Amino acid sequence: MSTLIIERELISESRLPQINFSELRFGDIFSDHMFEAHYYDGQWQDFKLKPYGPVPMPPSANILHYGQGVFEGMKAFNYKNEKAAIFRPKKHYERFTNSCRRMNIPEIPEELFIQGITAVVETDRNWIPKEKYKSMYLRPFVVATDQFLGLKTSDTYSFYVIAGPVGNYYREGINPVKLTTMPEYVRAVRGGVGDAKVPGNYAASLLPAHKAQEMGFTQVMWLDAIEKKYIEEVGSMNMFFVIDDTIITPPLGGSILPGVTRRSVIELAQSWGINVEERRISIDELISSFENGTLTEAFGSGTAAVISPVGLIQHNDTTILLDQENMGPVAQRLYDTITGIHHGIVEDENNWCYLI
Ligand SMILES: Cc1ncc(COP(=O)(O)O)c(C=O)c1O
Repeated sequence: MSTLIIERELISESRLPQINFSELRFGDIFSDHMFEAHYYDGQWQDFKLKPYGPVPMPPSANILHYGQGVFEGMKAFNYKNEKAAIFRPKKHYERFTNSCRRMNIPEIPEELFIQGITAVVETDRNWIPKEKYKSMYLRPFVVATDQFLGLKTSDTYSFYVIAGPVGNYYREGINPVKLTTMPEYVRAVRGGVGDAKVPGNYAASLLPAHKAQEMGFTQVMWLDAIEKKYIEEVGSMNMFFVIDDTIITPPLGGSILPGVTRRSVIELAQSWGINVEERRISIDELISSFENGTLTEAFGSGTAAVISPVGLIQHNDTTILLDQENMGPVAQRLYDTITGIHHGIVEDENNWCYLI
């Protein structure tokens, strides 16, 4: 990997002393610096680390109207009080690249992605919370910046990396969340952009998520868009069910985001000798396995939430009630192992952590 020449403009006084690390939420605090690069004349150039702040954006920029953009969500952890560990950055880069291809955005070279992130993590490493279960969230993203209101692929883009310390993603912390299906809305169809990490997917989910929250649920559990029958995923998590001691997770059929945590869960569970099935699972099968007592756990996986137990799933008039207080044993083992790997407490046998 060649080393990029990055211009560095550093802040004169850090905002760090103003941050209360004991009360971190998710996504509302940003570290001192950000990285940027720009694409014009057919190449990525102007690599710069600079103070976090507003980005210039013409009101006619493509991203503001047609949403030609892609983002990623990753985390950096305090690793043995010595280093920063980024979890599986290559996997995130692969997904980022696939998302860019789907949105017809010129690929970002791997060294730009990795060295842009590294520049921010290295410079703002004191922003990484020391405590276990806390981390620094990393948000690389690319936006189309052509000033043009006709619908066409942009010729110019900006790539940014911003970061900030985070605590738990859900208000419930690591306590079980409550999900509901919402068959009147769909998230994605095959051939669409459900397997890419693009802004529109999330914008379209806001109204159903708001309705679910008004009804007392944490999030919507999406069903497939055609038959409204098969379980897909949750707003920011892939889903897993433990039925008859087998872990079942919906397959990646083109409408589900291929989660990096999902892949890690599958690989870990298989290495422990647990049977894992990537297959379609209908909401009716889930209900009958709950009714006959074979469904013992449900949980979601994602960078933001890590492993999040599910305590309740509502589908029309049927309620699947699971443990309302605690994580089940499979979810707990996964949670302990993955968070342990993040912080260097559990051996990283697969070299998932990229150390800085
Ligand atoms: C829709 C959706 N599904 C699943 C996930 C989980 O993916 P990952 O484990 O890579 O964070 C995310 C988060 O990125 C997401 O936004």
